[in-house]
Amino acid sequence: MRLSRPFCHWLIAATLTATSASPSWAAKVEALHWWTSDSESAALNVVKESLAKQGHQWQDFAIVGGGGGSAMTVLRTRAMSGNPPASAQIKGPDIQEWASLGLLQPLTPLALDWERIFPATVTQHLRYQSEHVAIPFNIHRVNALWLNKAIFDELKLTPPQTWDEFISASQTISQAGYIGFAHGLQPWQDALLFESVVIAELGPQVYRQIFVEHHITPSHDQKLVAAFRQFRALRPIVDDQAIDRNWDTNARLLAENKAGMVLMGNWVKGELQLLGLVPEKDYLCLAAPGNGQTFSYNIDTFVFFKHHQGTDAKQAQQALAETIADPEIQIAFNQLKGSIPARQDISPAHFDFCSQQDIKDFKQFERVPSLAQGMANTGLTQNALVDVISHFFNHPRVTPEQAVQQLHVAIKATQ
Ligand code: BGC
Repeated sequence: MRLSRPFCHWLIAATLTATSASPSWAAKVEALHWWTSDSESAALNVVKESLAKQGHQWQDFAIVGGGGGSAMTVLRTRAMSGNPPASAQIKGPDIQEWASLGLLQPLTPLALDWERIFPATVTQHLRYQSEHVAIPFNIHRVNALWLNKAIFDELKLTPPQTWDEFISASQTISQAGYIGFAHGLQPWQDALLFESVVIAELGPQVYRQIFVEHHITPSHDQKLVAAFRQFRALRPIVDDQAIDRNWDTNARLLAENKAGMVLMGNWVKGELQLLGLVPEKDYLCLAAPGNGQTFSYNIDTFVFFKHHQGTDAKQAQQALAETIADPEIQIAFNQLKGSIPARQDISPAHFDFCSQQDIKDFKQFERVPSLAQGMANTGLTQNALVDVISHFFNHPRVTPEQAVQQLHVAIKATQ
């Protein structure tokens, strides 16, 4: 792997700082997360190593499963038995939910100028009442499309701008012997695809009214029916091997010139980069069809549980939070992760073409919280929505009208 120049500088600086640190209060900090792909592990190592240099020990509690569904189930079980980990990856409205139970450590002792260094889109997810209770690593773009350049060039295809063009490109690619669209039939991946279809069909304002504010009018219903119809049209282009295929396997298929397109959050870029691919040369990073002016965001955040009474554990928790917020760590972590830093005071020059584009788009575009990534709803509502969406996608007998009714029920039943 080639390291960028700023990253090398950071490594040298971090090593120098580390040798001078000699904490007398070293402690262990157990962290629950679902970062288990190669690039996710590489990014997380930046944090682990920095923590170790400060004399603290990271205790890994990794639960396999892209999207984090399994990790959240394990976390609930641990918390219910009165034994939550010191730290956990929790996102979106779930943060407020956990905080309202009185389980989260306020991060007030951190000397951070929160509202200055993080955009309001980020800080709104970090606060519970008047305190900050979560620390952000990054901002991921969810509604993103990844194209294999060699396959597109060979078949003289242009990037699809609409879902019809997407379907037609996928068919052309598969007729040439490749996988047209590498999707994994896991409920969270189905929901992620649906999200991009809905944004294209309904636009960001209506998306927000329905999936964030839960205000669904009869005219919204009609639009939703059309979106489900469009979503259904994508099912035939999903290949036979897609059942339960992980997102990082799809990224690898694209990297190995076996698949033409992947539609997935920009954590895919972390994987492509680790496999040695270069943006614009080997692959193109684009908005999902019809999603050009909308940035569906997903923010990775860690929270800290209160149950640790020992001063040492508290210090280690604080050291981890400070490490995550550190500008140099935000650069190094996000260079590997595919995301852009949560901090807004970091120069885009540290990042590659795709991330620079994301930084620009995040500023200019309409931002919506990702439905599929638990940024729009609490886990309870999200799981119910994902079930409806994935069930529809994989059961042709369910009509779009029935799916819309099921969405209503899912939202009402979980409020
Ligand atoms: C997380 C990303 C992660 C992806 C795949 C998402 O829920 O927010 O950080 O890379 O899942 O594991």
